[in-house]
Amino acid sequence: MIARTRMGPWGVEATAARLADIHGALLGSVACLGAWIAAIPQYEIKLAMAYHLYDHAHLADLIGRRIYDLTAERPQVPSPANRALMGFLHELAAAPNLAGLYQVLLPAVMESCREHMEKTNPVADEPTVRILYQVMEALEGQLVFAARLHLDKQEAKRMQLYLAEAGGLHGEGGAAAAGDTVDYVRPALIEKPARDSRFQELPPGKKMPKAKPLETPEGRVRLLHIALINLEIPAIEVCGRMIAEFPEAPWELKLDLATQIWDEARHAEMCADRLVELGGTLGQYPYHHKVWEHSVAGATLAERFITTQRIHEGNGLDQTLLARDALAAVGDEATSQIMDYIMADEVLHVRSGIKWVERLVPSAAERDALLRQIEERLGIAAVAGPPLNRDGRRRAGFSEIELDWLTSMRDRRGER
Ligand SMILES: [Fe+2]
Ligand SMILES: [Fe+2]
Repeated sequence: MIARTRMGPWGVEATAARLADIHGALLGSVACLGAWIAAIPQYEIKLAMAYHLYDHAHLADLIGRRIYDLTAERPQVPSPANRALMGFLHELAAAPNLAGLYQVLLPAVMESCREHMEKTNPVADEPTVRILYQVMEALEGQLVFAARLHLDKQEAKRMQLYLAEAGGLHGEGGAAAAGDTVDYVRPALIEKPARDSRFQELPPGKKMPKAKPLETPEGRVRLLHIALINLEIPAIEVCGRMIAEFPEAPWELKLDLATQIWDEARHAEMCADRLVELGGTLGQYPYHHKVWEHSVAGATLAERFITTQRIHEGNGLDQTLLARDALAAVGDEATSQIMDYIMADEVLHVRSGIKWVERLVPSAAERDALLRQIEERLGIAAVAGPPLNRDGRRRAGFSEIELDWLTSMRDRRGER
């Protein structure tokens, strides 16, 4: 870092332009990871990518705020000041390309941060320095992780050439190379999430293996395994898909989804660790794609939020409360506490779903019609079997009228 009394090579405008390039790179990464999480089969890599996606979104948010502080303007999206960088990002997004991301783009971001920290004035530009310090800290761990993956060296070389063609991360500001489209990064999307060979799909028409009492470790392993592979991992994948498929969505919406992805990654990790601790193994119960199929059947973001966050996760609040209390009753305090933490996050996921559906579909009548239409189309009940978690649902934003309606639905179902 240079002396406090000496100014660096970049003034306010140049610093904002450099930050716009980093911002653009991180947003490109968020979009790509959003799509690729479902495409990459290895469970551990998938999970790491979920954490990385959140880091990149959170850091891009901080950088966006810093750009605002420097220019009194929110960063444009697509954002790089170096428009030629868009050509690189479009190429990166064409197919899952971990080599291009982890061996080319992110190291370039790292290098830019390092150079900035070395040369900028530590007083005048202290807010930038603080943020870039966080970027470097996060990327350092991610690059160490990626170094163990044996990524495609040829692909890395090819993408390196693309980046060189763009003039590097900071290229010649504003000069778009011929053929570069200044448009959102739109990663290629896949039909169904990939799972690695440890996991087997439930054959069509077959039911999940029968539940065992929660008093037994096997019963608890089954509960955790189902939560892990049929709920938490798919939740990561459908939220990533929403970010990737709807790039025009407001930034705040994407940040909410990225935060949810981080939560779901922790839930998955807690479930996996605990089930192994209880004597289980990853892959010992089959998986299905219901959460994914139900979500992607929605054509709009509003439909996706209704399906995943409001209906599925709303029902999840009832089930998690039931599981938390049942686990405590059989003396498994540790698993019960996991459910308690999961439930706290899920309340906010449901709340975020309700909030975004209200913003995306301002008319209450239209929202209600959409909700009924989705329930009918997918055959998803508005409320599943267990007693209603009224307190959790209330904190998530369900109104008293809706809660009464759901209770009466459940009671009627119980009478059959
Ligand atoms: Fe979750
Ligand atoms: Fe969730």
